Amino acid sequence: MGLHPLFTLGGRLQLCASMVRPGTALADIGTDHAYLPIWLAKQGLVSRAIAADIRPGPLQSAQQNIRRYRVEELVSTRLSDGLEAIFSVEADDIVIAGMGGEMMIRIIKNAPWLRDGEKRLILQPMTSIPQLREFLAQQGFAVLREQAAVEDGHAYSAMQVQYAPEKTGTDSLYPYIGKLDAATEDSRAYMRKVIAQLEKKAGGLSVSGRQEEAAALIRTAEQIKIKMQKER
Ligand SMILES: C[S@@+](CC[C@H](N)C(=O)[O-])C[C@H]1O[C@@H](n2cnc3c(N)ncnc32)[C@H](O)[C@@H]1O
Repeated sequence: MGLHPLFTLGGRLQLCASMVRPGTALADIGTDHAYLPIWLAKQGLVSRAIAADIRPGPLQSAQQNIRRYRVEELVSTRLSDGLEAIFSVEADDIVIAGMGGEMMIRIIKNAPWLRDGEKRLILQPMTSIPQLREFLAQQGFAVLREQAAVEDGHAYSAMQVQYAPEKTGTDSLYPYIGKLDAATEDSRAYMRKVIAQLEKKAGGLSVSGRQEEAAALIRTAEQIKIKMQKER
């Protein structure tokens, strides 16, 4: 087998990688190609990793990549619906990236062992993000860190989460922009995307006669704009 130089991660997965604690035992749920655990293993940043997926097809390509980059000693694959086939002792940091927020909610609900302050979840949702943030707060999961990354013109957010009911304080903007501040161009790009979504939704509500709900969304969008000006 030839020597394969290590690939670089795109901005979105790089952001997730930066939230993994060095030396951790990792589970990457919905791993697909397994780029994230392979990259972390190659950098010496994980003690071991499970690359898990619900479908056998992605796991086959994960296995090929694990062999290609010669990290078989550190990275194993696992067929698993969410965390169903992962034991608590096997993972301290759990990445779930590139999936819908509703699926993440289901996966977290079905793994009660995540309610342990020693574990960390690194979540990078694609859809239903306010619902996910609200679910986390209601269930006692605190967002310790949240940052945004822009890749191929799209802005994404990733959050590092811990079970810590005493730390789940939230404000009125939390469902929309989580713990992001507006200090970086990437987080401002994410906030602009959220503002556009809120304004579009408000437009739809207004057309269907739901003026009060529309006005509330417009007020939220305005508050995000003010935050962006203040923190710039
Ligand atoms: C779009 S890919 C994301 C790959 C990678 N995590 C990333 O962010 O680039 C989503 C992957 O999640 C897997 N998946 C979807 N639902 C899942 C579940 N309930 N449990 C485990 N894997 C799941 C899919 O099979 C697919 O390979």
